[in-house]
Amino acid sequence: MSQDEKLQMVRTWFPPLAKGKPGAPDDLIPSAGEMVGIPRLGIPTLRESDASLGVANQVNQRPGDTATALPSSLATAASFNPQVAEEGGAMIGAEARAKRFNVLLAGGVNLTRDPWGGRDFEYLGEDPVLAGTLVGAQIRGVQSNHIVSTIKHFALNAQETGRMVYDARIGQAALHESDLLAFEIGIETGHPASVMCAYNKINGDHACENHELLTNVLRSDWRYKGWVMSDWGAVHSTAKAANAGLDQDSGAELDDGDWFRDKLRAALAAGTVPQARLDAMVRHILTGVIASGLYDDPSPSTVQPIDTDAHARVAQKAEEQGIVLLRNEGALLPAATTARRIVLIGGHADVGVLSGGGSSQVRSTGGVPVEIPLKSGPASSFARITWHNSSPLRAIRALAPQADVSYVDGSDPQAAARAAKGADLVLVFATQWRTEAEDVTSLSLPDHQDALIETVAAANPHTAVVLETGGPVLMPWLGKVPAVLAAWYPGQRGAEAIANVIFGKVNPSGRLPITFPASADQAPRPAPVGLAQVAEHDAASNAGSSGGTTALAIAVDYPEGADVGYRWYEKKALKPLFPFGFGLSYTQFRYAGLSVKAGRTISASFDVTNTGSRAGAVVPQLYVSLPTAKGQGTRSPARLAGFARIELAPGETRHVTLQAEPRILASWDTTRRQWSRAAGAYQVSVNRAADDPVLTDKATLPAITFRP
Ligand code: BGC
Repeated sequence: MSQDEKLQMVRTWFPPLAKGKPGAPDDLIPSAGEMVGIPRLGIPTLRESDASLGVANQVNQRPGDTATALPSSLATAASFNPQVAEEGGAMIGAEARAKRFNVLLAGGVNLTRDPWGGRDFEYLGEDPVLAGTLVGAQIRGVQSNHIVSTIKHFALNAQETGRMVYDARIGQAALHESDLLAFEIGIETGHPASVMCAYNKINGDHACENHELLTNVLRSDWRYKGWVMSDWGAVHSTAKAANAGLDQDSGAELDDGDWFRDKLRAALAAGTVPQARLDAMVRHILTGVIASGLYDDPSPSTVQPIDTDAHARVAQKAEEQGIVLLRNEGALLPAATTARRIVLIGGHADVGVLSGGGSSQVRSTGGVPVEIPLKSGPASSFARITWHNSSPLRAIRALAPQADVSYVDGSDPQAAARAAKGADLVLVFATQWRTEAEDVTSLSLPDHQDALIETVAAANPHTAVVLETGGPVLMPWLGKVPAVLAAWYPGQRGAEAIANVIFGKVNPSGRLPITFPASADQAPRPAPVGLAQVAEHDAASNAGSSGGTTALAIAVDYPEGADVGYRWYEKKALKPLFPFGFGLSYTQFRYAGLSVKAGRTISASFDVTNTGSRAGAVVPQLYVSLPTAKGQGTRSPARLAGFARIELAPGETRHVTLQAEPRILASWDTTRRQWSRAAGAYQVSVNRAADDPVLTDKATLPAITFRP
């Protein structure tokens, strides 16, 4: 390869800004990025599209180009079902390929450290074993189409406030045992061809120029062979970034300097970036392109047909398995098919279901019944509040043809209460929109929806709340509302899935992949760090949080360390509103006969029986608490070590064996760069939810060390 050809590969165009720029191709597809290929060598042009929930088309930049929208990744995480993640990945990957994209910027797996995170909906929850397993499955699905998937954002892009500037400060051991473990599991099970480094800093260095992360961890510890691409606008140097391990500068027109073009050529000439480094960058890209199958099976040059009905069913199944039944007093649900009058209130439930905003925004098949532009804020240039055309009103009517089903918009609580009075069932659809580039500043439902729910519930005791949110919300009305469903952002067949759960055609089986706090101050950080600084800076520079990369210094500390989410709640003896792993069913399950074996790891066997009269799925969760050193209390917080989702017919018993993920039993030894498991007694439990053990035992293990 010539030097020019090599340099062509390590920098990608950002189509919306590249038009007319010297060297830019004139056939760029409006999308996230493009690397121009080298036909002489059979190296394909890489056409990149977002993201994890479907082929995105933010602000309708490709007019009329619709795609199938999965529910939010939190819903997929709530399924606790790798198969659902893999099918979703395979489906969106097939659509990407059919639309001529061959790099899908999927695989978002940042752990939810903060319940108010703007992108929590794009990720897979707060636990490294759950998130890592599911992201690996999702990536496998995407790449089964012989296209590239990323895993992102490496690492600790845990908040959106000041995302370009904040410094995530955390100890190496804590980092390896939490966020990095999710990536490690995702990479070894999903083999993503590319890793996308994040915007933020980690311990002082930006993620895309972080030698510890990109070289010591990724290449040396994990022996990763694919390529590291930057997030869009996340590169801030030439030699530092290239020598730290960045292989490709994405969407370079968004950078604060064109770091990987003339400047890189000059750095190579001057020797500040060794030629061997450029060769390695190119080798990593080609390794990913070849290993994903893309080199041998190039994506089509023309748009291919898509089986939209089959794909919509994939989206619906993901939502059906992801809906979490949080409360069901007096068995209000499932609703009787004899109900005569049903009233739906709020959330635009007459026409659609809400989606999350930002680069992951899919314009779904069926159109956009409601779309609200933003007037200000960092997300306003690329996000609109968007509903998918999946109408709960239509879906409920279809399942209750005998009933009078009506809708009121909920803007007037008194009018809503009047409409609700005397109905057999009232469904309040409560929404909370989240988006990339901004965190939510309150965990309360916005727009007086709490008052609406209180007023309606007071008028009719048969009230259920359906939450369409991008993460946890507070529920001051909980004691007065008999039934609550967390439907997340339900995706383009969300209404049909919700209706099926409400009428019992689908027995809810989702489990919370994140803790729902009882109050914001239970979380390690009760609000986004740096919010005031960013607001002040943006007001002065009018740049949004994506601009002004150097002007602000925001340090975010993680006192929870590796004890993210439910582990923090146990450590601090806090009772959340709903714990991680929690979810109800229309049937009941009984656990019995735990037998624990200790060997290379811990394996736990037990029986689980469906004791009710409906078929349903149960999600047994294996937790392990490590032996504590002298003087460190009686117990260290229990960690999720394994899980399964099991479908059981009424009366059916299944013998289940769960193996503990070995790294969950160990600590990261920073000096020796290896895992180290202490000798001692490990407390083992099989739980219904993080704080609800049903079977417990102990296992005694010898000390071992092992390489990552
Ligand atoms: C996001 C990435 C996305 C990229 C390309 C960035 O703003 O952080 O997740 O893949 O844009 O659209």
